[in-house]
Amino acid sequence: MARTAVVTGSASGIGKATKELLESRGERVIGVDIHDADVVVDLTTAAGRTGLVEAVRDAAGGTIDAVYSIAGLAAPIPATVAVNFFGMVATLEGLRPLLLSSAAPRAVGVASMASLMPVDDELVAAMTARDEPAALARAEVLAREPETTGALIYGSTKKAFAQWVRRTAPTADWAGASIPLNAVAPGIIATPMTADMIATEEARTAILQMVPMPLNGIAEPIVVARLLTWLGSTENTHLCGQVVFVDGGSDVVIRGDSTW
Ligand SMILES: NC(=O)c1ccc[n+]([C@@H]2O[C@H](COP(=O)([O-])OP(=O)(O)OC[C@H]3O[C@@H](n4cnc5c(N)ncnc54)[C@H](O)[C@@H]3O)[C@@H](O)[C@H]2O)c1
Repeated sequence: MARTAVVTGSASGIGKATKELLESRGERVIGVDIHDADVVVDLTTAAGRTGLVEAVRDAAGGTIDAVYSIAGLAAPIPATVAVNFFGMVATLEGLRPLLLSSAAPRAVGVASMASLMPVDDELVAAMTARDEPAALARAEVLAREPETTGALIYGSTKKAFAQWVRRTAPTADWAGASIPLNAVAPGIIATPMTADMIATEEARTAILQMVPMPLNGIAEPIVVARLLTWLGSTENTHLCGQVVFVDGGSDVVIRGDSTW
């Protein structure tokens, strides 16, 4: 029987490529986004997160096979915290009960190589503590200087999310329920999110100095979609809490041996 997948961020970029790839393979996809989707919700709000679960339960008839939590923002604003961390976690936790009746349930989220960049420790700690008001208040302060402290917001959300995946994946709710939970960490991908950053040769050179991608450079969204869909496939039986960098080499160049 065809698998049913839920893809957030399905209207654009990596989410759109993931939806299209799954559909080309005959899977049923319930697309979720703030616009142009089967389920239109705002994942920065409690009502949007609850609405997501209710709408997916209705659309899927109670069972889904895979969740791809992809929707995100990169702007130096508090909403980035609300969608990238709290929205992503709410998507995965909220839809987990619908995975339990699948024969081969899978869950994947999108972190980023930006998690390796400087972060704001106070903001990461507030997310880790699952204290959304404190995290939003800290992001509000950081956002006052968009070029300096504001620029720490995005990487902070991705670090907190990657660490949540690693801490959560081996627990009874996930590994104990036979649900592989993993993340991907893309480098620079050519989507509307990065359009301005890669619009000119000069801009591309500047971004690749910060994010070195010696293997094939800036990637198309389909590159990330292929990895995501493998992590969400029945073939993935034993990856648990991995954050797989699909980044043309920025992780190995930046971190080298330091992670071992
Ligand atoms: N493009 C890159 O270089 C890159 C690199 C690393 C990680 N990522 C991550 O990949 C994911 C997808 O990014 P993309 O590059 O495809 O960007 P994109 O802007 O093309 O797509 C993001 C999608 O998320 C949706 N979204 C944003 N806020 C939302 C909300 N409040 N509620 C519901 N949907 C919302 C948008 O409407 C959009 O369709 C994000 O989590 C992003 O942080 C992207």
